[in-house]
Amino acid sequence: MKVGITGTPGTGKSAVCEIIQKYYPVIDLNRLIEEKKFYTEKDRERNTLVTDTDALAKYVLNYSKHWDVQQTTIFEGHLAHYLPLDMVIVLRASPSELRRRLSKKGFGEAKIKENIEAEALDVILVEALERHENVHEIDTSEKDVNEVVNCIVEIINGSDKYHPGSIDWNGELFG
Ligand SMILES: Nc1ncnc2c1ncn2[C@@H]1O[C@H](COP(=O)(O)OP(=O)(O)O)[C@@H](O)[C@H]1O
Ligand SMILES: [Mg+2]
Repeated sequence: MKVGITGTPGTGKSAVCEIIQKYYPVIDLNRLIEEKKFYTEKDRERNTLVTDTDALAKYVLNYSKHWDVQQTTIFEGHLAHYLPLDMVIVLRASPSELRRRLSKKGFGEAKIKENIEAEALDVILVEALERHENVHEIDTSEKDVNEVVNCIVEIINGSDKYHPGSIDWNGELFG
């Protein structure tokens, strides 16, 4: 089974996968994009790569033909939900917690605002639901990294406690 872990920057994808790689193989999509040059150009202003998601998806599809299909493999990155996967898990964090985490990571104010807005508007969740049937979301705001790992293992083992729809930051934003 191929499982994507996606979410707005700062929701904890990398921190969680650092631990979860003890249990499942993890493919770091950002590294794969860089290594295999799955980008069409470098966006100098934003200091990011413009990913060729079609090429990335094609690679994942072909690559997976060689895998033991019994084995659960995790694909980590904010573009994971663009890939042909069996399950997508969206990590979420409240705007205030996201601000804390991104400041700690050294993000500038404009970048922090952009990401908080995307998170408040459920951008990645909506994109994931447009593309996949099997979508779950975890509110990481008040969980430590190990607790989030446990939730992911529960979902992979068949829990349906994390169906989308219950997470809503409007209370914090407008309450
Ligand atoms: N569940 C969590 N609780 C508290 N802090 C977290 C949690 N997950 C991640 N962090 C911290 O938040 C920051 C951003 O996490 P990171 O894993 O880099 O996010 P992402 O890969 O989604 O951009 C890091 O400093 C990380 O240690
Ligand atoms: Mg990361």
